[in-house]
Amino acid sequence: MNTNIIYCGDCLTILKGFPDECIDLIYLDPPFFSNRHYEVIWGNHAELRAFGDRWQGSINHYTGWMGERLEQCKRVLKKEGSIYLHCDYHASHYLKIKMDKIFDESNFRNEIVWHYKKWSAGWQQFQRNHDIILFYSKTDNKKRVFNKMFMDRAESTLKRFGTAKIISGYDEKTGKRIPS
Ligand SMILES: C[S@@+](CC[C@H](N)C(=O)[O-])C[C@H]1O[C@@H](n2cnc3c(N)ncnc32)[C@H](O)[C@@H]1O
Repeated sequence: MNTNIIYCGDCLTILKGFPDECIDLIYLDPPFFSNRHYEVIWGNHAELRAFGDRWQGSINHYTGWMGERLEQCKRVLKKEGSIYLHCDYHASHYLKIKMDKIFDESNFRNEIVWHYKKWSAGWQQFQRNHDIILFYSKTDNKKRVFNKMFMDRAESTLKRFGTAKIISGYDEKTGKRIPS
């Protein structure tokens, strides 16, 4: 299979041309069911980039449209592969149910909350300040790839545990549960 290529067009058509289980990792940032039309003036040449996020009928139209594409994503994903679906409050709860059906709820790994800052609004509610990224693996295969990320220990952790290995809330030295 050719790699290092950007395919332009409807991902449904493009994915249908791919063989089964050939993709390691999928990240989707689709329209969010926001009922808006987006236009951006791009770069120095004032190129107009636009896409529509308006759906006739109901949420069922949107979830049906997404479902067709997610089915293809599942087909092309390798057994060790994972998929990340970026969405927000408009439809994340509907997409979670769709993903549970297509990828199986046992393959739901986690939900990443991407929090960002906005100016406070004069609304009678909390500001909507986060997106959701649903993370599923194709299977529960122990060989599935997940590249762990590490960061330096916080000062307080270093003070408490030094550089000793800590595993899932257990102190390796004593084997005892670390009280939270
Ligand atoms: C929420 S935006 C994502 C924007 C993008 N992540 C960026 O930073 O520019 C949704 C994107 O999905 C694209 N899109 C809409 N329908 C599509 C389809 N059938 N196949 C592939 N992409 C599609 C739109 O053109 C738009 O760029």
